[in-house]
Amino acid sequence: MEEKELLKEAVKAREFAYVPYSGFKVGAALVTKDGQIFHGCNIENAAYSVTNCAERTALFKAYSEGVTKFETLVVTADTEGPVAPCGACRQVISELCDPEMEVILTNIKGDIQRTTVKDLLPGAFSPKDLK
Ligand code: THU
Repeated sequence: MEEKELLKEAVKAREFAYVPYSGFKVGAALVTKDGQIFHGCNIENAAYSVTNCAERTALFKAYSEGVTKFETLVVTADTEGPVAPCGACRQVISELCDPEMEVILTNIKGDIQRTTVKDLLPGAFSPKDLK
C-alpha cells in the first residue's frame, strides 16, 4: 500500500479514540507482512493509568489474533510535529517488532518522520536482560 494511503488508515483509526479525559486522539495503523492492517486508537479510563495507547491497541489486536510479523507501524495525532510515541509504547514496540522495522510518525497535517524500531528506544530492556 502507498504511504499516503497508510497515513489515511491511521487517521481513520484515530476517529474511534475514546478520550473523555484528555480529548487527545491518537491513531495507529499496523501493516502486517501478509498485507493486513490492524487499526488502533487510544482508549482511556477513569482510572487514568490503565489507559491503552493507540500503538499498543494495534499491536495487541494483532498478537491476540496470532499475527506477529509486521512491515510498518504508522502513528498519528493532532500534534505540532510528528507525534512522539510514549515510553511504554516504545518498550512494547521494541519487544514485539523487528528492530529494523519501519515506523512512520506523522500528524494530521501530514508532517512525516520516518524512523525504525531500534531508533525509537536505544538501550531497550529486552528478554535478554532476563537471562
Ligand atoms: N497516547 C497514545 O495513544 N500514544 C502515545 O504514544 C502517546 C499518548 C495517548 C494516551 C492518552 O490517551 C493520550 O494520548 C494523552 O496522553
